[in-house]
Amino acid sequence: MTVTMQVPFVDLRAQFAALRDEIAPRVQRVMEDASFILGPDVGRFEENFARYVGARHCVGVESGTAALQLALQALGIGPGDQVIVPANTYIASAIAVSAIGAEPVLVECDENYLIDASRLESALTPRTKAVMPVHLYGQIAPMEPISSFARRHGLRVIEDACQAHGAREGGKAAGSFGDVGCFSFYPGKNLGAYGDAGAIATNDAELAEKLMLLRDFGQRKKYEHLVKAGNCRLDSIQAAVLDVKLRHLDGWNDARRRNARRYDRKLSEIGVAPPPRLTDEGHVYHLYVIEVDNRAHAQSVLSERGIATGIHYPVPIHLQPAYADLGLGRGAFPRTERAAERILSLPMFPELTEEQIDLVVGAIDDARRLIAPPCLANSGRPS
Ligand SMILES: Cc1ncc(COP(=O)(O)O)c(C=O)c1O
Repeated sequence: MTVTMQVPFVDLRAQFAALRDEIAPRVQRVMEDASFILGPDVGRFEENFARYVGARHCVGVESGTAALQLALQALGIGPGDQVIVPANTYIASAIAVSAIGAEPVLVECDENYLIDASRLESALTPRTKAVMPVHLYGQIAPMEPISSFARRHGLRVIEDACQAHGAREGGKAAGSFGDVGCFSFYPGKNLGAYGDAGAIATNDAELAEKLMLLRDFGQRKKYEHLVKAGNCRLDSIQAAVLDVKLRHLDGWNDARRRNARRYDRKLSEIGVAPPPRLTDEGHVYHLYVIEVDNRAHAQSVLSERGIATGIHYPVPIHLQPAYADLGLGRGAFPRTERAAERILSLPMFPELTEEQIDLVVGAIDDARRLIAPPCLANSGRPS
């Protein structure tokens, strides 16, 4: 049986249809001017994105992973050093640390799926050089205790803001709390390019200068290579696309918050707990994640009705074969592991309609009633 898609997980086609007339001439200009590599669009976007984040500098790079990697390198972190990373994050956060020869030290999550600031002290060793809070699902991590922990121990703070473009707390934007803020513009992000792209925001002029070298063969002037570095540049076409889209980001984030509020209300009506959160202001709902008891069943009922869902992420980092060398088996991070078994990401994007949200919630309600005892519970917060 073929099921027509009623509710996609994200709808980048709908977004492009609305932006076509703004984006096409900007991309065409890059092609007409043949300014493909570090052309004026890159500088323009960097300036606008820095202003948006509230940082003095922005350096465009090829991806979020490159942003994290280059930020670590520019801060002088390398082999033998340790960086504290949440156990509950996308693997790229840890991979960036491993890629520069340092060691990620994982820390359990709190009830909001964010790094548990109360466990930071116990992760500290004489080799700890930095902490990398991740603003997972679009929610700003508890930066106050994280920053004061870092200050107390002379550590650098590298924010992984790859899922939190435009999230704000006390008037400050994600990516402006730490020494550096790293962003991914992977197409499905709140601010997404038409391919891979990323950026680093910082207030430190010297660091920005180093990052410019590290992204472009270590050169300030052509063929004058000051440090050993490869090619991690943001390309001009992506910068042009991002510069157009940036103007819409706050509006899109407002729409995501509106959609989250409707989900919250409709889910509460059927007795399902909405996602936990620290504050509403600090969340831009890159993902809208609930917990369910019988996830495979719920996903299959939703899928039969043409509703796409996701799991972010099904296998925690410490249980991935790639990180077997950490020697951490099942049971090392019970909250993270429990979340990985229960979380379900519902469709979330700015263009999502009220009818689509109601369809999703109706299907969850049905899935719950299709088997007894209820397969979905509102007691789903990790304990
Ligand atoms: C939390 C987090 N960190 C890092 C990354 C890596 O970004 P990219 O895919 O652009 O390399 C992502 C993107 O998926 C992410 O979600």
